[in-house]
Amino acid sequence: MDFQLTEEQQMIQSAARDFAVNEIAPVAAQFDASGEFPLENVRKMGELGLMGIEVPDQYGGAALDTIGYVLAMIEVSAADAAHGTIMSVNNSLFCNGILKYGTEEQKQKFVRAIASGEEIGAYALTEPQSGSDASTMKSRAVLSDDGSHYVINARKSWITSGPYARYLVLFASTNPEAGARGITAFLIDTEQEGFSRGKTEPKLGIRASATCEVELQDYRCPVEQRLGEEGQGFKIAMSVLDAGRIGIAAQAVGIAQAAYDASLTYARERKAFGQEIGTFQMIQQKLADMKTRLEAARLLTLRAAWAKKQAETTGARITLDGSMAKLFASEAAMWIAHQAVQLHGGMGYSKEMPVERYFRDAKITEIYEGTSEIQRMVIARSETGLR
Ligand code: CAA
Repeated sequence: MDFQLTEEQQMIQSAARDFAVNEIAPVAAQFDASGEFPLENVRKMGELGLMGIEVPDQYGGAALDTIGYVLAMIEVSAADAAHGTIMSVNNSLFCNGILKYGTEEQKQKFVRAIASGEEIGAYALTEPQSGSDASTMKSRAVLSDDGSHYVINARKSWITSGPYARYLVLFASTNPEAGARGITAFLIDTEQEGFSRGKTEPKLGIRASATCEVELQDYRCPVEQRLGEEGQGFKIAMSVLDAGRIGIAAQAVGIAQAAYDASLTYARERKAFGQEIGTFQMIQQKLADMKTRLEAARLLTLRAAWAKKQAETTGARITLDGSMAKLFASEAAMWIAHQAVQLHGGMGYSKEMPVERYFRDAKITEIYEGTSEIQRMVIARSETGLR
């Protein structure tokens, strides 16, 4: 077992840290308050290679591995989880699936634009009546008589980055009778006729990451923009989420790291009963438990990233690794952020300190890309074979 990072991994970690500390952290509270989308920072992150970390250089990416991606996600999310969300959608949910299942033309057209940060990508699986039970979607795609295009009618909700996305990976059924086996993936250009955006969600946390509904009405999607084969869409959606969940685990580690760091600083400075609160055993116990859970979450997340790297040659599924990392890291982040608020007392409840933002931001990691309940279901099914 080797815990040493490679030179490339250290380089992306330090580039992400510099950018996060100098360009993201100073504006994080302001973007959280306004809910404004940090477009300028997103473009700069693209220039630094942070929007397509695992994308080969011929498609405009940084050509690094999943460990490099996880390290960079931790740094960015420690400064601001909303920036981490935007980064994770471009990297994991958009580029990943096209690299794995797309044609050469699709990679050139869609991956290059998103990996460079010139455009923003999104992933459209969820519908108003179909969230955790993703295979029950109502969206439909019908192949035209001449076989040149699909006519898609779809309504998708909770689309992260939806308000700013140029391209979407969207899932619709081409054969409703076949259930999960009838779902197909498509690459959608939002500037084409038939596409529209609906209401934007007013969210508890990750407020600078924009989320909306999208609708496709008789949208004509050229057959060349089908991703993978007809009926392969659900497996594409799930395998993309296997990788995406590692990114969310990394985001949770970043939030937890920030909450722990803020708590340690506060425990050293704040005085009560005539001494620094960090000298009290009850505070030390909190810090010890926070740090232990933080490092356990980091290790499980890096282990999942390592498993994904191995899987690129073995073709093995990483479902269990991704789900365990996301489940543990997201619950650790929520718990650590909760402790951080408590440790800060009244100041933990104030917007003058960042810990209340970490607390709000941590919550989403237990919900999106599969709730903790879904992760437990996936883990139990993968590990025991029981259904
Ligand atoms: N990789 C490849 N194939 C997979 C797979 C995986 N990880 N998981 C399932 N499959 C395959 C199965 O092998 C099966 O194939 P066969 O028909 O050939 O046997 C098929 O897919 C159907 O699988 P299941 O019977 O297990 O499907 P299910 O309907 O019981 O659902 C589920 C499984 C785990 C509950 C799944 O629906 C799920 O993960 N739900 C959560 C959805 C989710 O995470 N949504 C998040 C939305 S995106 C988001 O949040 C983004 C954002 O905002 C940033």
